[in-house]
Amino acid sequence: KVVAVIMVGGPTKGTRFRPLSFNTPKPLFPLAGQPMVHHPISACKRIPHLAQIFLIGFYEEREFALYVSSISNELKLPVRYLKEDKPHGSAGGLYYFRDLIMEDNPSQIFLLNCDVCCNFPLPDMLEAHRSYGGMGTMLVIKVSAESANQFGELVADPITKELLHYTEKPETFVSDLINCGVYVFTPDIFTAIRDVSFQREDRANMNHVSSFESHLSVTRAHPIDFVRLDQDILSPLSGKKQLYTYETTDFWEQIKTPGMSLKCSGLYLVQFRFISPNILADGDGSKSATIVGDVYVHPSAKVHPSAKIGPNVSLSANVRVGAGVRLISCIILDDVEINEHALVINSIVGWKSSIGRWSRVQADGDYNAKLGITILGEAVTVEDEVVIINSIVLPHKILNVSVQEEIIL
Ligand code: GDD
Repeated sequence: KVVAVIMVGGPTKGTRFRPLSFNTPKPLFPLAGQPMVHHPISACKRIPHLAQIFLIGFYEEREFALYVSSISNELKLPVRYLKEDKPHGSAGGLYYFRDLIMEDNPSQIFLLNCDVCCNFPLPDMLEAHRSYGGMGTMLVIKVSAESANQFGELVADPITKELLHYTEKPETFVSDLINCGVYVFTPDIFTAIRDVSFQREDRANMNHVSSFESHLSVTRAHPIDFVRLDQDILSPLSGKKQLYTYETTDFWEQIKTPGMSLKCSGLYLVQFRFISPNILADGDGSKSATIVGDVYVHPSAKVHPSAKIGPNVSLSANVRVGAGVRLISCIILDDVEINEHALVINSIVGWKSSIGRWSRVQADGDYNAKLGITILGEAVTVEDEVVIINSIVLPHKILNVSVQEEIIL
């Protein structure tokens, strides 16, 4: 049997995702019309002999309860949310719930970060992992040398694929091969995590004997049960024939900011075109709006037939789109109203917002820049004939004059 664990983090982790994380946990923010965490979960469904999926995080239980029960029904597979009482780090969180994870006595455990966007080649990773015979196999990808330092950089043996060297977000360049945050382990991973905690306990005790001061500093820097997968496990275990790599050449992105969520929403829409095209809007029939490229429209959304939408547009529940509206590259969240002849480009429009007639909400679409996409928080009103360019607007604002390159607090 195999189980999968998805690390979802908690409210203190999603700060770069503001203002979109104010009222929705980041893992439930919709990409291509599905919660972010839905994409790795549905990829897990392709793992042979999968017994259970666990989501581990420190968000309140009730925030995940509804989603977890509906996805369990849909996949006909138990999906459980396990809440940590405090952050234990990416490996510490796994260890904290080891008894529940090992309940079905799995021979392999997948571990996935929830904030990565890729095609999750999990069955191929499992096959490679079995052939390597190590304790763990991680998904890796080549990125540009300039961007590599945002990730864990690593060196792998070109023939055996063994992980030889690993450094988390190094200051000086190590390698353009990076950690994708997707792993498969044997249950020996729990022993490796336990050893880190034990070593730390020993060190803390020793320091306690020699000096009270240094004991304080050790425990403050690393509480004994806080273990990071990258620094505390991957680095020390590299070059010991225990960890191996599986390289993907397909798409991969990390989703830390609203800009990247818009980009990844588009990547998942393109993927739906190949794996489940029925989810996408087809634009057939004279009563339907004009659809360009890959677009998701929630069944409860109402779109005027003279509107033109796409590519990379996702419309959530109860969105209303008026006559002559043009939408390009945007995520429109629940209960938004977009009135006649408005235009939205490279933007995310928050829940219950409204955009007036002939208004424009737009940006130049540089997904990595701070103001590269326009974001309207929850319940923002843009009045008629107002232009909002490259701006972030916090919840509940009413905009009756045009703004450009501004953060409206
Ligand atoms: N449950 C739980 N508890 N989850 C956590 C905790 C925790 O205490 N801390 C982090 N996570 C989750 C995050 O939500 C995320 O999904 C994942 O664990 C990794 O988060 P971080 O430890 O903050 O690392 P990162 O995202 O900056 O970088 C990691 O992922 C990159 C790929 O996206 C590293 O492993 C990098 O090497 C890697 O390139």
